[in-house]
Amino acid sequence: RKTILTGIKPTGQIHLGNYIGAIKPALALAKDKEYQPLYFIADYHAITKGYDVSKFKELTYGVAATWLALGLEPQEVIFYKQSDIPEIFELTWILSCMAPKGLMNRAHAYKSIVDDNITSNKDSDSGVNMGLYNYPILMASDILLFKSDIVPVGKDQIQHIEIARDIALSFNHHFGETFTLPEYRIQKETAVLPGLDGRKMSKSYGNTIPLFEEPKKLRKLINKIVTDSLPPEAPKDPDTSSIFQLYQEFASPEDTLRMRKQFAEGIGWGDAKNEVYKVMNQFLEEPRERYVELTSSPQKLDKLLKEGAEQAREISKANLQNIKEQIGFL
Ligand code: TYM
Repeated sequence: RKTILTGIKPTGQIHLGNYIGAIKPALALAKDKEYQPLYFIADYHAITKGYDVSKFKELTYGVAATWLALGLEPQEVIFYKQSDIPEIFELTWILSCMAPKGLMNRAHAYKSIVDDNITSNKDSDSGVNMGLYNYPILMASDILLFKSDIVPVGKDQIQHIEIARDIALSFNHHFGETFTLPEYRIQKETAVLPGLDGRKMSKSYGNTIPLFEEPKKLRKLINKIVTDSLPPEAPKDPDTSSIFQLYQEFASPEDTLRMRKQFAEGIGWGDAKNEVYKVMNQFLEEPRERYVELTSSPQKLDKLLKEGAEQAREISKANLQNIKEQIGFL
C-alpha cells in the first residue's frame, strides 16, 4: 500500500484554509483502501516561532479534536503527535549532516524573514533561531522516515516537499536506495484559499475564518470577506471569486452548478454570502458539536494519540534501524 502523510501545527485555531487545503483532501484519500494514511500534529514545528506555553496544550488537543470531529477513523489512520516519535528527531540530525546549508538559505519562510530584515536595516538573521532555519529538515524527516509516497498539502508547503525530495535523492545516491521520493498533492482550485482580506488565509495575517466558529460569528466573518464593488445585477466571474470558491467546497455539485449560473446572471454579494453561510453551517453543524464534545474529554484524546504513536513507532523504529545500517552505524 502507498503511504499518505500530512501534518498540521498547533499554532492557532484550525481555519478554513487548513481544512480545504489539507484536511478535506487527506480524509478523502483515507477512504481509499489502497493507501495507508499517517496524519499527525506537528507540535515540534510549532515552537520554531514565539508561542504561548499556556495555550499550547489546548491548541494541540484542538488539532486532534478537529481531525476526529471531521471523520478521521483511528482504525484506518495512524494518528499521532510528532513529539511522541523520537526517531523523527534522530533522523533529523542524520539528514542535517547531509543537507547542504545553501538549500536551507533558499527556503521561502527563512528567506522572507531575511528579506524583511534587510529592508528594515536590521541584521539579516535577526529573530531567526536554528529551529526555524532547520524547519525544512525536520519536515523532510517527518516525511522520509515513513517512506511517504503522497503528501496532501496547500500550495505554501510545496517547496518543503521539494526540499524533502532533494534530500532523499542525494541520500539515495550516496548511500543506496533508502528513501521513497515523496510527491505533493494539491487541490487545483483551492491550493491557496484566500482569507478575509484576499491574501492567503493564514494565522500570521490574522485574516482567518476558524473552522468551528460559532454560527453568529461565522456569519459575521463571511460578511467581512472582501469583494469587488460590482452592483448586484452585474454578471460575476465565479472562477475568480473567493465567495464562489468557498461555496463549491461545501455545496453539492448540483447546487454549485446552480450558483455558477446565478453568478453569470448577476447575484448580489450579500445574497451570495448568505448562500455560502447556509451551506457551510449545514455541513459544519455536526462536526462542530463533536468538536466541542471531544475537546472536553482530553483523556480520550490522550489515549487515542498514545495508541497512534505506538503504531507509528513500529514503523519508525524499523525504518530508522535500516537507515542507520545504511550509513555505517554498528
Ligand atoms: P500548517 O499547520 O501551517 O498548515 C496545515 C495545512 O494547511 C494548509 N493551508 C492552506 N491550504 C490552502 N489555503 C490556505 N490558505 C492554507 N493555509 C494553510 C497548509 O498548506 C498545510 O497543508 N509545515 C506544515 C506542517 C508539517 C507538515 C509536515 C505537512 C510539518 N511536517 C509533513 C506535511 C508533511 C505547516 O506549517 O502546516
